[in-house]
Amino acid sequence: MTVIPLGVPSIRRPATPAPADGPMVDTFGRVARDLRVSLTDLCNLRCTYCMPAGGLDWLPRDQKLSSDELIRLLRIAVTRLGITSIRFTGGEPLVVPHLEDVIAATTSLSPRPEVTLTTNGIGLAQRAAGLKQAGLNRINVSLDTVDPARFAAITRRDRFADVVAGLRAAKEAGLSPVKVNAVLDPVTGLQDAVELLSFCLDNGYQLRIIEQMPLDAEHSWQRDRALSADAILAALKHHFTLSPDPVPRGSAPAQLWQVHGEAGILGRVGIIASVSHAFCSTCDRTRLTADGQVRNCLFARDETDLRVLLRTGADDAALEAAWRSAMWAKAAGHGINDPDFVQPDRPMSAIGG
Ligand code: 5AD
Ligand code: SF4
Repeated sequence: MTVIPLGVPSIRRPATPAPADGPMVDTFGRVARDLRVSLTDLCNLRCTYCMPAGGLDWLPRDQKLSSDELIRLLRIAVTRLGITSIRFTGGEPLVVPHLEDVIAATTSLSPRPEVTLTTNGIGLAQRAAGLKQAGLNRINVSLDTVDPARFAAITRRDRFADVVAGLRAAKEAGLSPVKVNAVLDPVTGLQDAVELLSFCLDNGYQLRIIEQMPLDAEHSWQRDRALSADAILAALKHHFTLSPDPVPRGSAPAQLWQVHGEAGILGRVGIIASVSHAFCSTCDRTRLTADGQVRNCLFARDETDLRVLLRTGADDAALEAAWRSAMWAKAAGHGINDPDFVQPDRPMSAIGG
């Protein structure tokens, strides 16, 4: 593997222009094939590591892309830019009433992209079957603890039962493998990790634990408070027999471990070490926000405004070129560990995970 030194994603202006066709590449040779789309910055939870109790200044409605505008950009991404997989995120994408229509329109693009969803699971019990019918391939549900009281403390809402019902419905609808995304609480997190893994193994879900990143709206992330992948792995190994999954990781952010029991492999668990073992050198992602901005990295400090281009009559070729040059300027890495790192202004809830 080529090791690229991580630079801070300040505004980069490459000396040469982006290639006009072929795969969507950056100056380090990475190819973007995976698009993350934030459909809304709204959310019905208030996770303490994400947003304040009182919520945020939400995006005004007229700044958000209409369904038609969004589908046009998705078509450009798939047919002109080589995007092969699209993940819808938020905020909370299930608060978008026309989500099923967006998914159906996306899965009818040609060549058909793989379509996945990251959700907090509230309301999923009622919608899982319809999402599957719209063509959704897979789903990731965020759940940070299986203790209802701790769930209420972390999310500031008493909705644990809804999430569990949503997970069950997703599995019954055949949205497999159902993945559970967990961001751990600094105090109870190691215990939560062990309990979450038991819960996921018992129910046939795949757990993925994500290191907490400096993307909270209040800019209160502290490196020494967030649990590291190494600490999480050590806690899990104390209770479970783990061995590295032999399947090559490719551009996947999660390092996968097999969990062994007396009867053989019980399941897998992934650890996403975004901070302590950054995987920027294999990143294949590009991002689109609900207000039509392309971000070439979660931690980018500048954005490319496709909404204004769309609304001032740009043709498909101009939108394609703008998206290509946004990605061309992608920095080598997120730079979280650099002394001059500056957290992006836009919080995670308005970027999408
Ligand atoms: N660091 C890491 N993951 C986060 N998420 C939200 N905020 C952060 C953060 N600061 C996760 C959510 C969800 C996904 C969209 O991103 O828990 O699983
Ligand atoms: Fe909502 Fe996700 Fe933020 Fe929690 S982490 S408040 S579920 S956007």
